[in-house]
Amino acid sequence: MTHQLKDLQDYKETYARSIKDPEGFWADEAATFKWHKKWDNVLSWDFVKPDVKWFEGGKLNITENCLDRHIAERGNHTAFLWEPNDPASPSVHISYRELLEKVCQCANALKELGIKKGDRVVFYMPMVPELAIGILACARIGAVHSVVFAGFSAQALADRVDDAQAKMIICSDGNNRGNKLIPVKQIVDDALEISCQSIEHVLVHKNTRTDVNWNNQIDIWWHSAVDKQSVTCKPEIMDAEDLLFILYTSGSTGKPKGVVHTCGGYMVYACSTFRNVFQYQDGDIYWCTADIGWITGHSYIIYGPLLSGATSLMFEGVPTYPDAGRFWQICEKHKVNQFYTAPTAIRALMAQGNEWPDKYDLSSIKLLGSVGEPINEEAWHWYDEHIGKKNSPLIDTWWQTETGGIMITPLPGITDTKPTFASYPLPGIQPVLMNADGTEEKNNNAEGLLCIKFPWPGILRTTYGDHERCKLTYFSAFKNMYFTGDGARRDSDGRIRVIGRVDDVINVSGHRMGTAEVENAIDEHPEVIESAVVGYPHDIKGQGIYAYVIVSHNASNDIINEIRKVVTKEIGPIAKPDKIQIVSELPKTRSGKIMRRILRKIASNELDTIGDVSTLVNPDVVDEIIKGAPI
Ligand code: WTA
Repeated sequence: MTHQLKDLQDYKETYARSIKDPEGFWADEAATFKWHKKWDNVLSWDFVKPDVKWFEGGKLNITENCLDRHIAERGNHTAFLWEPNDPASPSVHISYRELLEKVCQCANALKELGIKKGDRVVFYMPMVPELAIGILACARIGAVHSVVFAGFSAQALADRVDDAQAKMIICSDGNNRGNKLIPVKQIVDDALEISCQSIEHVLVHKNTRTDVNWNNQIDIWWHSAVDKQSVTCKPEIMDAEDLLFILYTSGSTGKPKGVVHTCGGYMVYACSTFRNVFQYQDGDIYWCTADIGWITGHSYIIYGPLLSGATSLMFEGVPTYPDAGRFWQICEKHKVNQFYTAPTAIRALMAQGNEWPDKYDLSSIKLLGSVGEPINEEAWHWYDEHIGKKNSPLIDTWWQTETGGIMITPLPGITDTKPTFASYPLPGIQPVLMNADGTEEKNNNAEGLLCIKFPWPGILRTTYGDHERCKLTYFSAFKNMYFTGDGARRDSDGRIRVIGRVDDVINVSGHRMGTAEVENAIDEHPEVIESAVVGYPHDIKGQGIYAYVIVSHNASNDIINEIRKVVTKEIGPIAKPDKIQIVSELPKTRSGKIMRRILRKIASNELDTIGDVSTLVNPDVVDEIIKGAPI
């Protein structure tokens, strides 16, 4: 297995080596895996094109490294520990041996249904073991998985299926979420009505026994296709740079883009970061509460833990069902050692009061992690005091869908922690702060735009079907740099604090959303003439969505609800604006550009710093909008 950093000295030496000799460093990490053929070349890169290749010519299958490799030593250890939505239902332990067999069965079924290497398979599923099994089954046969978060609408699902030209959707009949039952298969049916011409089959896992409509031409039950299959399946031998998965994420313009990760580099990076950041020791119970629909679930529920032979807890439900103590009840029940969640969950649970965590024995916890958005100081301290009891390091991990794995983070027990600081780069990561004029900000105690100046194995390779967009979004702002889209601050000791996005991406409850994407959805309403969406500070969600909308004189009295509905239909409930203000005009420059800066200030109630509005064609509208701003 990849090296596990053991102390500060080790971190310093390893980091120094990873900068001086990145190829040697990563080659040593990679050599700890099973390869069918060693790579010809550790790294070739060009951040202008961009073109990055790691371990080119190397042959492998990631599932052999996740599963087969562990059988001899820990075949009977639990790989996944599944905790159902209903606390009265039993937890499920799946050993590495069982998981390998289930993955092989599913892989054989996919092959029988015509899925071949390189084909895309979309998942639209709740947090059940079959989601992980299906993902690994794709990787086993070289199919490319693309998981769509099950909170997205039929339209959003269809958009992703079409972009990926997927051949199959794997879903469940329904989804238990708290006390709600979500008709998952129905949403897939609706997506197929909208579009999804490329889909040949829908594989349906029976999860809730909800009634479903059935189309014999397309629909197949998971149990009838999978259960009869052999429990062995020869892994497809992949090139290190063959696609492993596509994951759609929001950017500042247009529709979400498919971030592409490849087999070899992603594998090495997911494992190396998991082992170092969580300091996982044999026998530990590790729990990441993310949904597998996001990158955190990919790298730190499935791949990182399995590659490391860990026990990864997977939870079907929500933090507040049946009550606000559920997370802590699960920590007590399974004696969780490493707990990794998002600030939005911490803030929501903090608001429910200390009595919830106080009811449970949380003494097994050794480490707390945070991910997905900046963690505010109050939430940091509450998490540290009430969950970690001030004796578990709290690590604030910064990274992105595009980075494949954690990039900047304290290392528990190794480096210090400071509230709200992601702190130090992991080995191999070379962050820099850039000034808007293209020069590097070298001083400490300074702010800048966060870029990375050297590739790491987990970096995205392209955006699916549109390489130009990848180049424009990430590699054009600064020459020879990967631009993250985030602004950051470096303190006097060199620790980094990530402040938030500097582009038109907002982060709502840890979900990334493009303001343009929400505007496009709002504009689908026939009575909407124009809209502008911005983020504003929100106590629980981190950021809320504020929409300014111009509507036609025919619009009904219920237009605000109708707008919410249209967004739910186009994207999903997570994108519903928190505040909608009907306006007569939007503040615009002479060239017709909406001045979002002003709208952001109004939405955030920062009226003192609105600044100069005289360059607008319609400066009067600013006052009008301020007067009408909903409280
Ligand atoms: C934000 C999630 C501050 C950031 C893994 C980034 C953070 C975006 C942190 C990526 C953190 C993530 N502190 N901000 N610890 N972690 N972010 O792609 O703005 O869903 O660019 O990946 O989340 O979101 P994504």
